[in-house]
Amino acid sequence: MDEHEPIELAKGVYWVGVVDWNLRDFHGYETPKGGTYNAYLIVDEKITLIDTVKAPFFSDMARRISRIVDPSKIDYIICNHVEMDHSGSIPDIMEMAPNAKLFASSKGEKGLAEYYREKGYDKWDLTVVKTGTELSLGERTLMFIEATMLHWPDSMQTYLKDNAILFSNDAFGQHIASSKRFDDEIDDLITDAGIYYANILMPFGSQILKYVERLNELNVNPKMIAPSHGVIWRSNIQEIITAYGHWASGHNMQKVLVIYDSMWGSTEIMASEIVEGVMRSGVEVSMRHLRKNDWSLTMKELMDASVIAIGSPTMNNDMFFTISGFLTYMRGLRPKNKKFFLFGSYGWGGGAVKGMDKELEIGKFDIAMESMEVKFLPYEEDKKVCQDIGYKLGEIAKANANY
Ligand code: FEO
Repeated sequence: MDEHEPIELAKGVYWVGVVDWNLRDFHGYETPKGGTYNAYLIVDEKITLIDTVKAPFFSDMARRISRIVDPSKIDYIICNHVEMDHSGSIPDIMEMAPNAKLFASSKGEKGLAEYYREKGYDKWDLTVVKTGTELSLGERTLMFIEATMLHWPDSMQTYLKDNAILFSNDAFGQHIASSKRFDDEIDDLITDAGIYYANILMPFGSQILKYVERLNELNVNPKMIAPSHGVIWRSNIQEIITAYGHWASGHNMQKVLVIYDSMWGSTEIMASEIVEGVMRSGVEVSMRHLRKNDWSLTMKELMDASVIAIGSPTMNNDMFFTISGFLTYMRGLRPKNKKFFLFGSYGWGGGAVKGMDKELEIGKFDIAMESMEVKFLPYEEDKKVCQDIGYKLGEIAKANANY
């Protein structure tokens, strides 16, 4: 593929986004596979751009558009979401196409005013749209769907009724960089979509369930879902919508996740023995050292697991700093229906388990069983206790699973 070649999704509908091959950190969220910012162009009587790209990539998007039409001829620009990975190039494209009309949700308008008041906002011809508002492009019609809290208050989606293409913005995205543009060209895309969901959308399960109902009420049955990140769903549409329903309902598999950090190996020995015990119970288990594994995949594993064991060494009478950071991250993402177990080690004075316990209490998380702490080193009798705990956690995972 030419680096600036547009991709035609349907007659007159093009992907004009960019691939960010070197993206490894998306505002703190690890993206080991890179990412994309997707923009789409519809050529009808009115030439319409749906979303833009992160500002540093504006010229790449403009070159791709230029392969189809003169960018100055764009009539309409739809801003589905003001976060700057999508709105960042609006000031530049508005300079190129100063007569273009902008469309956004009412919160979207407020966000654009805040972000771009020194970058031309006052001169823009902006119309606020709501769920059900239609916009004729000539032969085809767009309908707007507010998607509040998927994942920001301003989030909106755009449905091209005639082709049944849903431009879903952040929903149904994945962070992967690829020369492929469609779901049936990528292996195990559902895992990437799950990682994305766990780290971006997990706090908003109840809004997502309502949103899926709203699509039915509006008779939106997409034949294609074109998100603003990753590849386009054209073959596994029902599969991804069903997966969103499961994830949003707080699904729990028969799985235990052991998350830990370690300074001199004691907490790691405990983690390993707990894992052995879980394996004896026949339940799937995964073990993640927080400084050796990326947190975005760890969060996907946490979303799937029904029991989470978290282990920390004691440092300065408190939990280790990676554990504290992870717990803060996890609390914000509000995983549902999980049961937790805490373990840790200390030398002269304890504090790790107490610190973690406070964090779980703030987040109102459920405790599966009493915590365990070891002084200096776990000996054979401690290892046996850890194994027994692991076995019990496996049994609790069986009882707590709903999927
Ligand atoms: Fe892809 Fe909420 O920005």
